[in-house]
Amino acid sequence: SEQNGGSNFPYEKDELKPEIRAELAKYYASEPDFVTVGPKKYIFLRPYLEDIENVYNMSLRPSDVFVVTYQRSGTTWTQELVWLLANDFDYETAAKIPITERYPFLELFMFFNKKWQQDLLERSEDKQKALDLIEKIAKPVSERLRLAQSRRFIKSHLPMCLLPPKILDTAKVVYVARDPRDVAVSCYHHSKLFKVLDFPSPFKDFWNLFIRNLFTETPFFEHVKEAWELRDHPNMLFLFYEELIKDLPAAVRRVADFLGKEVTPEQMDRLCDHLSFENFKKNDSVNHEELREYGVLSNEEKFMRKGKAGGWRDYFDEEMTQQAEKWIEDNLKDTDLRFPTVK
Ligand code: A3P
Repeated sequence: SEQNGGSNFPYEKDELKPEIRAELAKYYASEPDFVTVGPKKYIFLRPYLEDIENVYNMSLRPSDVFVVTYQRSGTTWTQELVWLLANDFDYETAAKIPITERYPFLELFMFFNKKWQQDLLERSEDKQKALDLIEKIAKPVSERLRLAQSRRFIKSHLPMCLLPPKILDTAKVVYVARDPRDVAVSCYHHSKLFKVLDFPSPFKDFWNLFIRNLFTETPFFEHVKEAWELRDHPNMLFLFYEELIKDLPAAVRRVADFLGKEVTPEQMDRLCDHLSFENFKKNDSVNHEELREYGVLSNEEKFMRKGKAGGWRDYFDEEMTQQAEKWIEDNLKDTDLRFPTVK
């Protein structure tokens, strides 16, 4: 198959304006090296450009299942749900193999650039262990996916337009969306958790960058709307995080129907218990705690943070609340997309 990037990639890659780069440098300690892609100007860290065309042109298999979200929208939760349904409730394997290994994550490597890799090697006593980590998280995955046996489970925060253009003709996609105010708060904490992002500024600064589409893989609304447009395709399942929060068994049934699986009442009880936030926090196969020993994570934060809908209210002052309402309203004008938590 054609994997030699460049053969078929329709989007321009652009630089941010120097004044924007300078502005970002004020807020981030890490001075992220952002580039934009395509007319909607999706934002990436530069290393992603190495694999962007390979991913766009990757060959697909009918058994492939993608879990796609804007980040911090309930990806991990949905991944575990999908995986257990697709693998006949194999809790043993789910506990043994971390979710990060069960699902290659298409853009993960962009966060761990050459400088980060060098720093890790320098500060690690066990060089082989550091090299293994680099292999796992800091390398493009398209080649690994090409060689992987079926069934492939794939995680991505890419907008649909940067996945293979005919993805739904072949593969299944589960897309999850979440109230953008909760997403912003969760992303803010995520930028503190992952030291590579290193965002020491207050939430209000983060929020202002987020709604100006200056955080990785924004613009948020374009991302969600692209998937929403495809929601009626039989190979696309569009879920809301709030739907899982409100009625997890109902969400499980939607995913099971989508995957063509039956679920008995006993299986449902066990699955919902396994997927509860309390159990997820303790579940080392999904909570990303394995990264902690490498010094990648901040001691102040956890991947499984609050697990609630509506927590944004504790972070927004009156001005931000109104700003958010207007931002959401403006962006929903041209679509019938409605978030369950937005009136
Ligand atoms: P919060 O930061 O608001 O707590 P992702 O997996 O896409 O990065 O999303 C992470 C968000 O999903 C976090 O949100 C996390 O707590 C929440 N989450 C993960 N597992 C969950 C579960 N079992 N129940 C509820 N929320 C969960």
